[in-house]
Formats: sequence, C-alpha cells, structure tokens
Amino acid sequence: MSAIQMVDLKGQYEKIKKEIDEGVINCVSSAAYINGAQVKSFQENLENYLQVKNVIPCANGTDALQIAMMALDLREGDEVIVPSFTFIATAEVVALLKLKPVMVEVDAGTFNVTADIIEQAITPKTKAIVPVHLFGQTCDMQSIMQIAEKHNLFVIEDNAQAIGSDYTFADGSMKKAGTIGHIGTTSFFPSKNLGCYGDGGAIFTNDDGLAEKMRVIANHGQSKKYYHSVIGVNSRLDTIQAAILDIKLKYLDEYAAARQKAAAFYDEAFKNIEELQTPAREKNSTHVFHQYTLRVKNGERDALQKHLENAGVPAMIYYPVPLYRQEAFAEYVAPGFRLPTTEKLCDEVLSLPIHTELHEEVLGKITVEVKNFFR
Ligand SMILES: Cc1ncc(COP(=O)(O)O)c(C=O)c1O
Repeated sequence: MSAIQMVDLKGQYEKIKKEIDEGVINCVSSAAYINGAQVKSFQENLENYLQVKNVIPCANGTDALQIAMMALDLREGDEVIVPSFTFIATAEVVALLKLKPVMVEVDAGTFNVTADIIEQAITPKTKAIVPVHLFGQTCDMQSIMQIAEKHNLFVIEDNAQAIGSDYTFADGSMKKAGTIGHIGTTSFFPSKNLGCYGDGGAIFTNDDGLAEKMRVIANHGQSKKYYHSVIGVNSRLDTIQAAILDIKLKYLDEYAAARQKAAAFYDEAFKNIEELQTPAREKNSTHVFHQYTLRVKNGERDALQKHLENAGVPAMIYYPVPLYRQEAFAEYVAPGFRLPTTEKLCDEVLSLPIHTELHEEVLGKITVEVKNFFR
C-alpha cells in the first residue's frame, strides 16, 4: 500500500491524464493564455451545472469574496457577520475593506452557522452576512434568507468547500449551494472538490446588475478598455486552469459520490465509539464531504492525531484557532470575548483523509488505526 494522503491529487489526475494533457497542450499551443476560449466555455458550463445566471471566474476564492464585498457599496465600519469557525479568508477580506467582521458561533453538530445565531448578532450597523458552507454541506439557507430579508441584509455564500451540494427548500424545490444568496463565491484551490492545478476562483449571482458590477471590479474597474469607472482589482482565471476545470466539472458529481462513499464507510466504522462524534448532516442539504471531520470528545484529540501519524495515517485539524483569537483580528474583539462551541470545536475536531481515490483497503487501514486507539 502506498503512503496514505489527506488528498490524492496525483491519483485523480492519472485517471483523466489523457484529457487533461490534451487540454493543457491546446492552451499552450494556442497562446491564448489570458481570457482564452476555455474561460468562457468553463464559465458557461458552470452556469449550466449550477443553474445560475452569472458565473464570474476570478483568480482565487479570497478574491471572489473581496470582489463580492466591493460590489455592495458598503461603508467603513459597516458590520459583516461571519462564522468564527472557518478559514481566515472569510473574515480577512472584511477587515481589508475596512468593514467590521462580527464573528459568531456555529452549530456543534454541523459546524455551520445558523439563522438563530446570525439574528442574535444583528445590529443597526449590520449590512451583510457571510454563511460558510463548511466542510461540504449547505447552511440552512431558507432560514438565513428569511432573516436577511427581514433585516435588509446582503448574503454572500462562501461556497469554497461545498460546490455541488444541493439544498432543498420547504416546498421541495432545490438549488445548488452558492446560488441562493445574493452572491456566492468559490475557490478552485487544488484540494477543493472542484480543484484546478494552481489557484482559481469564481463568483455566482442571479442578479445581472451585481454581476456587471463585479465583472468591472474584477477587471481593473473598467467596462471599456482603458476607461476606468471605479477602483477595481486584477483577478482572472488563467486559460489553462479553466481548461482543466472544464474537464473536471464533468466528473464533479462522480467525485462527490466517491467522497460520500468514503464518509459512509467512516460513519459505519465509528458508530459505536463513544468518544467520537461523526459529522452531523444538515436537514436540508446533501453533503459533498470536502472534509470528513470527527469530534474527539474525551480530550484526546491530539493524542489520537499522534497515534495516527505514527501509524502512517495523516489527520488534520481544521481549524485549531477561532478567528477571534487570531492576532490579526485583535482590534475587532473585546478582551475576554469567547464563543464556547467554537472553542470546543477547535479543541476536538480532527479531519480524516477524504478524496476521490480512497479504496476500501485504505479506508480499512485508517479505521482500524482509529479503533485501535480507543481499545
Ligand atoms: C471557507 C473558505 N473560504 C475562502 C477560501 C479562500 O480560497 P482561496 O484559497 O482560493 O483564496 C477557502 C480556501 O481555502 C475556504 O476554505
């Protein structure tokens, strides 16, 4: 058995090597490295897959969040509600734009922010909410959109981790994660469920006005070449990355199914281990398992991680520190501010290998090693 990895990008590539190599060579030989035809093709195919009116490709998921927030005409000091248990990018761009990140709790089972938690944090200065569909399942967007409407707030879905997840509304209708709020953003970082071979990102919206604004912002603030109406940024998806993504998009649902199969194997293996809590599912969302994250409830998370490492099984802590404890955010947080669930999660979570190439033999080895620890 070869070394177990958190994510097997090489193994995934080997399976689609011929198509990918051809796609990359086509880009290189066409010399259309920037805004080549593949960017438009991927954009349209992703619009079709997500059933959203506008996809705006950009350079990475952090830029996608920044461009989305720049399009909302917010003023210095306006408050933006973000979960405290997420990757830094979600809140980083808020601070970068001189807005105030208001960090809130998440649900201890699903790791997602909820409408109730959000509503408690709303003040007259709140202008936007950024629900993060953490680890691969969509937050309860119907309730979140109701709260947003009631308080007249923008909703930007940070969908870096849940592309392809389906959300079902009370009336039975369905939408893809990232297409329910006013704007959705994603990342195509290589290890993401839809990952390219470098950096990449995209923004989604059904609002044509916002879409046009964001296209302009992403392109140096110009709607006509060399005429700049607003201050923008330079954020493009490379042609080569678009070509790769266009190929991988065809496999996205198959990839999600492979991840779900591995998650089901883990669930079954750990169901009788009292010290472990397997990931709870959102009621109205499918889970595409960007991460499979356990809670180790006996205070021995770090020891389990060490035990696994010694046995050749990688396991990662996403995330070890709540956002409000990051030094970078010190000025936004009152001394002694604590969110008990977030604190607990940072002490208890452990993510196991999950990817599209996990075979039963490997899953067997991983689960046996976890079980050995609790014997
Ligand atoms: C929740 C979340 N938001 C935003 C990002 C930022 O994406 P990128 O790394 O492409 O800038 C990531 C990626 O790591 C993420 O996980």
